[in-house]
Amino acid sequence: MVKKSKYRSSAWYNSKDHRRDTFIHRGWMRNQGHPSHLFDGRPVIGICNTWSELTPCNGHFREIAESVKKGVYEAGGFPLEFPVFSASESNLRPTAMLFRNLASMDVEEAIRGNPIDGVVLLMGCDKTTPSLLMGAASVDLPTIGISGGPMLNGHHQGKIIGSGTGVWQLDADLSAGKITEEDFIEAEISMSRSKGNCMTMGTASTMGSMVEALGMSLPNNAAIPAVDSRRYALAHMSGKRIVEMVKEDLIMSKIVTKKSFENAIKVNGAIGGSTNAVIHLAAVAGRLEIDLKLSDWEKCGKDIPTLVNLQPSGKYLMEDFYYAGGVPVVIRRLLEKNILDKDSLTANGKTISENNKNAKCWNNDVIKEFDDPLVADGGIKILRGNIAPNGAIIKPSAATPELMKHKGKAVVFESVEEFHDKIDSPDLEVDENSILVLKNCGPKGYPGMAEVGNMRLPQKLLKKGIRDMIRISDARMSGTAYGTVILHTAPEAAIKGPLAAVQNNDFIEIDVEKGSMNLIVDDNVIKERLENYKPVLPDIKSGYQKMYIDHVTQADTGADLDFLIGKRGSEVKRHSH
Ligand code: FES
Repeated sequence: MVKKSKYRSSAWYNSKDHRRDTFIHRGWMRNQGHPSHLFDGRPVIGICNTWSELTPCNGHFREIAESVKKGVYEAGGFPLEFPVFSASESNLRPTAMLFRNLASMDVEEAIRGNPIDGVVLLMGCDKTTPSLLMGAASVDLPTIGISGGPMLNGHHQGKIIGSGTGVWQLDADLSAGKITEEDFIEAEISMSRSKGNCMTMGTASTMGSMVEALGMSLPNNAAIPAVDSRRYALAHMSGKRIVEMVKEDLIMSKIVTKKSFENAIKVNGAIGGSTNAVIHLAAVAGRLEIDLKLSDWEKCGKDIPTLVNLQPSGKYLMEDFYYAGGVPVVIRRLLEKNILDKDSLTANGKTISENNKNAKCWNNDVIKEFDDPLVADGGIKILRGNIAPNGAIIKPSAATPELMKHKGKAVVFESVEEFHDKIDSPDLEVDENSILVLKNCGPKGYPGMAEVGNMRLPQKLLKKGIRDMIRISDARMSGTAYGTVILHTAPEAAIKGPLAAVQNNDFIEIDVEKGSMNLIVDDNVIKERLENYKPVLPDIKSGYQKMYIDHVTQADTGADLDFLIGKRGSEVKRHSH
């Protein structure tokens, strides 16, 4: 009657050697009304759910989970949904990134500690995707991802407006006196018209696209709108597929390899993806023990044109992207130029080429042809120099071309608080050629590396009609933001990285094409300044945040906690009954 199976859940539900344990594991589960035959050794599928009413982008995930369950049952599996820490980009303070690693620990231990043979990851809002991928990677069971999908396009006062990107524009217009406070408030609900995540090519849609490019989902995962019936059909099919993946023992590390990361970097360039992908892919790779460095972005991201004409780099939104053909078309265009590794395996058991080579494009203005791109040399650029020996990044497709080579005087803010205090002061010595420098907002300094790198421009320059300036920091920026913004400077100022040495009126020289960023100050002076530098550090002495500060790695290596890097597998060493 208690039949053993080859799956790991058998150690909970079908062990003849530990009758008492088996009774406890099965018996208590049965209080939910599960009939006995569901414990007959069939694959048990965990549905790892980041649903939370406090994470509005993932607020529809209980419905998605129901569709996944239908697919799992149909394929002969037993689905069990479980909640994990849900890091909301729009609500969580001081910054959701501070909790990405905490959430990944929750995911890892929840998967390993439970009778789960395969996992479906329900991901949406920015940090929920990397945290689930990271946690699942450290356990390395058969794993498939399904994203929640983007919101419908925003419509406001006769115009299309995109999540995040529209906020920065409206905020600048309000500061410049072009719109009223009432217009600004009315835009809130006009921007967020349906369930789903940000519908610009922000971090959430970028990471959904990365999941697809890595092969971790079924095709079309990234772009189907959250409320489109096809999203629920995809969830159903993902549930069906994970049961087969368990039977095939198709674990995550068989799909996600160095080559699939290289494919993802190239797809990121072609979609004009978020700068946050750099940090999240590094962290996921670290969990899989794959050596992915900033130099891989230099190597693979080079010469990739941005094809996808979406905000913040372009004009359309995710709904348009899906109707134009979505990520499969982007992949097909890169495959046709032999840019991708065509043999990389994906979750459905087919290669990336088999899945996408016949994808049809329905709108060449939304997904541009390879030879007529939105930005010829897109992707993420890495800058190095005496301010950033371990690298900094910029997204040229969202920047001003004339500022790509620039020398200007630094206007320095030691902390984000000082920035807010001084930026609108009439006494601030700043003009459009200045370079704004923000320190102590890196992984340890903030802590959590907040999305404050796209500093608001001084009001007096906004009123003059200036809309962009070079900004440098050790912070991140929202994937929905734009501008000539240099981010993730490593090492950060809080650990006396050379960014800390920059002072007001120093000259900084930037050449994005050459990949350089230098402080025009003598090396000995920089050294002396660093010796005397007192970082502005957060006053945190206990709790998770203290552990985070003590163990977080720098941006160029993914800002994971040092002791979480690597795979720890699915084996449970001891059990208690
Ligand atoms: Fe959740 Fe943008 S705030 S995806």
